[in-house]
Amino acid sequence: MNEPRDPPYPELKKSHTMAHKGRPWTDYKPPAAAPVWAAIEGLGRYYILLAALELDVFDTLQRTGPARVEELAAEMALPVDHLRSLLDGVVAQGLLDQFVDVYELNDTAKRYLVSDGPATMASLIPVAPGPHENWTRLAATVRDGRPATPIEDDPAAFYLPLVEGTFTTMFRCATRADLKIRYSANPATRVLDLGAGGAPWAIAILNGCPDGRAVVNDLDGVIDVARTKAAEHGVDDRCEFRAGDFHTVEIEPEAYDIVVLGHVCRTEGVDGARHLIERAYDALAPGGRLLLADYFPDMERKFNPHAVLMGTTMMASTERGFTFTHKDFSEWLMAAGFEALRLVEPIGFQQTFVAGKPRSRS
Ligand SMILES: C[S@@+](CC[C@H](N)C(=O)[O-])C[C@H]1O[C@@H](n2cnc3c(N)ncnc32)[C@H](O)[C@@H]1O
Repeated sequence: MNEPRDPPYPELKKSHTMAHKGRPWTDYKPPAAAPVWAAIEGLGRYYILLAALELDVFDTLQRTGPARVEELAAEMALPVDHLRSLLDGVVAQGLLDQFVDVYELNDTAKRYLVSDGPATMASLIPVAPGPHENWTRLAATVRDGRPATPIEDDPAAFYLPLVEGTFTTMFRCATRADLKIRYSANPATRVLDLGAGGAPWAIAILNGCPDGRAVVNDLDGVIDVARTKAAEHGVDDRCEFRAGDFHTVEIEPEAYDIVVLGHVCRTEGVDGARHLIERAYDALAPGGRLLLADYFPDMERKFNPHAVLMGTTMMASTERGFTFTHKDFSEWLMAAGFEALRLVEPIGFQQTFVAGKPRSRS
């Protein structure tokens, strides 16, 4: 049996670094700087991924299969050293694999980063943080109580690429939601989808309900995405596309079995979110259900970092945007008259409140 050999160059044993042991001459181990470095590296991590997408790294590797950097650089007409540095940054984040100088897609990249991956986020990544320049002015936004250029100044410019980018994820969520809430049990479901984006919810529900019909609302300029997606899924003839502000657009009272508020409340502030909930209640027929999807921080606003950071992201780029807790929404839903509240998570990170309108007023 070969004896394990020391490497031919100096290297600290991983378990003996100061980060693990502290300084030997003190009995106090100071906290690691890792969380600070994580914040500093956050910017680079994001832009490394963005550059890899812009340069088509993932789609190229899908085409070539496992490849050395020299082959990839030739294929992509890029300088070898710069490409290697970028690829290593992607590997360091666990978003590509590298074995003995050969790079290849790992399961994460195949699923989320190639442009035709089954749950691709490729077109979401550039737009998900909101306008990048707003992050460079965050301190001023906090000081002033509003961003200098909120997305409300030109909502279509922001939402058009966003709702294209989120469609795949939200459509998976809305389709999978049937397993939890069985909208397909009523084949003639009438749906109202407010702020529908590409209408992932309305389309999924119509897919499950062959005699269903939907009113799909979004702003003028964004609603065309819903038109296109509904046509692609063959349900456009069962949709009415109703452009307008969801706070004021005309809605028939007690006319729907399902009203969807999909990721719309967190730009609206407390009053706006409550107003949408009240509009949903009025629109539902007795026994109908509201589906309210969003990112919900926990009550102490610290144990669900994804939702907490989404709240900060909203603050950075919108006039009134903050995320609200499960408790906030539960109270507002009950105050509006809803009962039988449930929270479901059809796919990871995508939670949805299901709230019933009573069948009869007691
Ligand atoms: C985050 S997207 C959510 C899209 C979709 N509901 C979903 O769950 O994927 C928010 C949507 O709300 C729309 N929206 C924002 N303000 C609106 C308003 N005042 N009236 C109607 N739609 C609005 C945006 O155009 C965008 O399509």
